Formats: sequence, structure tokens, C-alpha cells
Amino acid sequence: MTKTLIIGATGTVGGLVLDEAVRRGVDVRALVRNKERANLPDTVELVQGDLADREAVRTALRGVDSAFYVSPHETNEVEIATVFGEEAQRAGARLVFGGFHIEDDDAREAAGSAIPAYIPKLKLAAFLASTDTRPAMFSLTNFDQNDEIFRADIEAGVFPTPLHSDGVNRIDLRDAAEVLTTALTDKDFAAGSYQLLGPESLNGEQSARIWAEALGREVVYTGDDPEWRKAFERRLSGQKLVDWIRSFELLGSAPIATDPAEVEIMTKLLGHAPRTLADYVRDSVNR
Ligand SMILES: NC(=O)c1ccc[n+]([C@@H]2O[C@H](COP(=O)([O-])OP(=O)(O)OC[C@H]3O[C@@H](n4cnc5c(N)ncnc54)[C@H](OP(=O)(O)O)[C@@H]3O)[C@@H](O)[C@H]2O)c1
Repeated sequence: MTKTLIIGATGTVGGLVLDEAVRRGVDVRALVRNKERANLPDTVELVQGDLADREAVRTALRGVDSAFYVSPHETNEVEIATVFGEEAQRAGARLVFGGFHIEDDDAREAAGSAIPAYIPKLKLAAFLASTDTRPAMFSLTNFDQNDEIFRADIEAGVFPTPLHSDGVNRIDLRDAAEVLTTALTDKDFAAGSYQLLGPESLNGEQSARIWAEALGREVVYTGDDPEWRKAFERRLSGQKLVDWIRSFELLGSAPIATDPAEVEIMTKLLGHAPRTLADYVRDSVNR
């Protein structure tokens, strides 16, 4: 049986990867900063430590076949990813990354020049991709699950996150977790870069309407109001707030189109059609 290490298991992406891996009966270990607070299933082996602590990372990677890495919202994200990549290589673990990666050097450099705030993320992913870990590098579009941060606002009738009027591709992370778990457990999964995405691009008005229909009440899109950052400040803090404001500034100004060829690849990787935002919202409201 595959033994796998999951980073970020108490967070959004890693938590869903952990749920999927546990559901499939995988032998899971998680590196967590606080064992008492972690609240993970009993079958999960816990190693307590911070990603900045090389010894803890080394201990967590000992004896695993594969490891999932998502970059936390931390100011030292390049340093901790570097430690992780080096130690994964040393441990002989296959690396599965979920986040944002541009494989082509010139395209990556151009993206960094256009969006300097993303340079650390581009840099850490490029480093992980260069390691001798047979890395599978998955880029993810805008998460459906992001809306949960603003659930109280949405239920109060306001959808505050800016999404470009031409639409932004949105992915249900449950789909991403299925593919990521397959990559973690299939020792023959091909190294390389993959784009994981949802079936459609949605703008703010459309996303608000989907929530309104599921909740049976009016939900007004306010992402074009310059005050949208105030809603973010009420719900987030620290580096996560900084990262989210940067990301949504970008999502408000740049569309993310949905390439049918990529949806076809996603469907093949998943073995079923990717879930829509309406699927996600319905399940979330009925949970
Ligand atoms: N939101 C989007 O639409 C989107 C789209 C594409 C890519 N991304 C990328 O996804 C990543 C964020 O993932 P997420 O939403 O799952 O984040 P998250 O919910 O904030 O979870 C972060 C996880 O990392 C852990 N962590 C934080 N600092 C750590 C440290 N120093 N050592 C060990 N563990 C640490 C946290 O554990 P604790 O419980 O101890 O805090 C938590 O489990 C970012 O890199 C972002 O750029 C996001």
C-alpha cells in the first residue's frame, strides 16, 4: 500500500486531498503544526512540526512513497518549499504539487514581469519541478471553496469577491483532490505539468446568482465596488489576506477562459465530468 505525506492537511486544498486519500484507504501521514488542534481522522499518522524546521520535514518524509505539497500563505514560502523539495528528493519520495506552475522558462519570466507579486510562487514551483522527485505539478484555477470564506456575507445577501465580467474558470477542489490523490497513489503517474480546472468560467454576477438560487434569496454581486477589500479584511488576516487581495485584484482585471481541450483532459483524468459551481453550492447548502 502507498504511504503518502500530506502538507497543509488542516487547510483547504490539503484537507480535501487528505479526505480523498483516507476514503481510498491510503496510508496517510500529515505534517501539522499543532497535533491537538489538527482534528484529523484517527487513521492519519501525525508528525508535529513546521515546514521551516528541516529535521521535522525529514522525519515526516521518512519512509513515504509520495508527498503532496501546497504552498502555505507564508512570507518564507520560497525557503520552506526549497527545504521540502530537497528533503523529498533525499527521501526518494515522489512529489505531487498543487498550486500554480508555469513550465516554460520564458513564459514564467514574462508572467513574473507582468505580475511581480507572483514571482515567489513561480519560483518555488519551478524549484520543485526541477527536483529529482518525478514531480507531478498541478496548476489549479479559482476554487469554488473560496466562497466559504465569505459564506456569512453571501447568506446576508452580498457576494463580495471580484471576478472579471468575462468570467474566471472555477474548480471544485473535490475534483482536484481526486486527481491529486490518483497522482499520489499511482507510482506510474507521469511526471510533468497539468492544468486542473472546472467546466466553466463564471463572472461575479453569475456566481452570485448560483448562490441566490440555492439559498432562495437575493445575493447581490459587489465585487466591482472599490470597497470589496473591506469584506476581505473582515474575514482574513496576515499573509493570507495579502495573498488573497493580490489574487482577487488580478481575477477582477483578467478573465480566465475555459479551454474545452483542457476540460476534456480534466474529464479523462477524473473519469467523470468536472463538477459545476452549481453542484458545489447545492452540496454545500445541503450539507
Ligand atoms: N484560492 C485559490 O483560488 C487558489 C487557486 C490556485 C492556487 N492557490 C494556492 O493555494 C495555496 C493555498 O492553499 P490553501 O487554500 O489550502 O491554504 P490554507 O487553507 O490557508 O491552508 C494552509 C495549510 O498550510 C499549513 N501551514 C501554514 N504554514 C505552515 C508552516 N509554516 N508549516 C507547516 N504547515 C503550515 C496550515 O496549517 P495550520 O493549521 O497550522 O495553519 C494549513 O494546513 C496558495 O499557495 C495559493 O496560491 C489558491
